Amino acid sequence: MDTHTTRTTAAVFRMTPEDVAEVARIERQSSSTPWSEESLRYEIGQPTSRYVIAKMDGEVVGHLGMWLIAHEAHITTFSVDTRHRRMGIGGLLLWESMTQAINEGVSRFTLEVRASNVPAQNLYRKFGFVPVAVRKRYYAPEQEDAVVMWIDQANTAAYRSRLAAMAPCGRVEGKSLSSTQ
Ligand SMILES: CC(C)(COP(=O)(O)OP(=O)(O)OC[C@H]1O[C@@H](n2cnc3c(N)ncnc32)[C@H](O)[C@@H]1OP(=O)(O)O)[C@@H](O)C(=O)NCCC(=O)NCCS
Repeated sequence: MDTHTTRTTAAVFRMTPEDVAEVARIERQSSSTPWSEESLRYEIGQPTSRYVIAKMDGEVVGHLGMWLIAHEAHITTFSVDTRHRRMGIGGLLLWESMTQAINEGVSRFTLEVRASNVPAQNLYRKFGFVPVAVRKRYYAPEQEDAVVMWIDQANTAAYRSRLAAMAPCGRVEGKSLSSTQ
């Protein structure tokens, strides 16, 4: 996978079993229903899963997971370490994951996001996600609603150039690196 760097030298790699403990730590910071190490280890072994991490100065600082089903990608989990938010790392993870998925033939993206999660919704809107439905009381135990967001026709020339124009995204610089850690 091609990777990109931020000004703070974050770069994106495929998630490996060695990353799982750190990813689970960030999950626990970020969610009331965090993914366990066991679930993450299972996920990264699945052929339809695409899980990536961002690393900065050798440290895992964020992660994003997707399931690819036919031409559809479902974002399953996505977090940045609280100490490193608002530095462009979330945008970097999303840009890399979406670009890779489109290159694999994905044409639609979907996700659920908490109704109160303005930071994530802002980020998704920047990438062209639009809210299409609400799943009532989707998140237990808080019973919070989920907003379902979609991007259709992500494989069109128009969307590809929109995405290309976002690299670098925010404060992310568009320097390619190798995929080795
Ligand atoms: C959502 C999340 C992954 C964003 O990561 P990040 O590295 O902070 O995001 P970026 O720095 O790349 O921000 C990109 C854009 O997202 C939006 N954004 C990010 N944080 C925001 C905030 N606190 N308030 C408003 N908008 C915000 C902005 O549009 C921002 O662009 P800008 O900085 O040019 O204004 C991070 O806040 C996080 O881990 N949250 C907890 C877990 C979570 O909510 N995951 C999503 C589940 S659906």
